[in-house]
Amino acid sequence: MINVIPHVLPPAQLAEARRLLATAEWVDGRATAGHQGAWVKDNQQTSENHPVTLQVGGMILQSLAQNSLFMSAALPLHILPPLFNRYSGGQQFGTHVDGSIRTMPGTGQRLRTDLSCTVFLSDPADYDGGELIIEEQAGTKRVKLPAGQMILYPSTSVHHVTPVTRGTRLCSFFWLQSMIRDNGRRALLFEMDVGIQRVAADSKPDHLGVIQLTGVYHNLLRQWAEV
Ligand code: NI
Repeated sequence: MINVIPHVLPPAQLAEARRLLATAEWVDGRATAGHQGAWVKDNQQTSENHPVTLQVGGMILQSLAQNSLFMSAALPLHILPPLFNRYSGGQQFGTHVDGSIRTMPGTGQRLRTDLSCTVFLSDPADYDGGELIIEEQAGTKRVKLPAGQMILYPSTSVHHVTPVTRGTRLCSFFWLQSMIRDNGRRALLFEMDVGIQRVAADSKPDHLGVIQLTGVYHNLLRQWAEV
């Protein structure tokens, strides 16, 4: 399942994020690539400890904590701090899979990457190329979102970023471990939650069917969740 989360950074925060990131120190993105990634990765990143990385990352996490679509689709257990990359002058990220285990900075806690997140920070009209291409069983998905929107996709998928041939593509990217490890189970819970919300919107607040279905949702979560 691939979800677009539309309202991650509103225009004022987006402008602030771009202003701050323009002042940050940018280094070769290969610094944080794994064995396979280093061959195909060609972009720039801010370092994970840079104050701008921490500040803008905090803005994104604060916003997501209040985003019910994100919470329902991701069912996050642990979220790694957001990082930032940019591509220009033909830079790209060739076909790869994201590493399965990452370490939480500071604590050393290991996380399993279940979902990969990319928040688009540049206006799509300001650059050519730079599409995120995700290969899924259902087919290939090409993603280039308006600034301030985020894509959430399974970290199990093979993906790449096409060359940026004009302008600059600025994004935030990060990973999370979900309470629900299995992509299929997580998708079922999301569908069920959306369905319950739809029925509830058209029913009386004490509709017994809604209460029963909400109970089933939570009991499935109880059976499947790692917390
Ligand atoms: Ni990747």
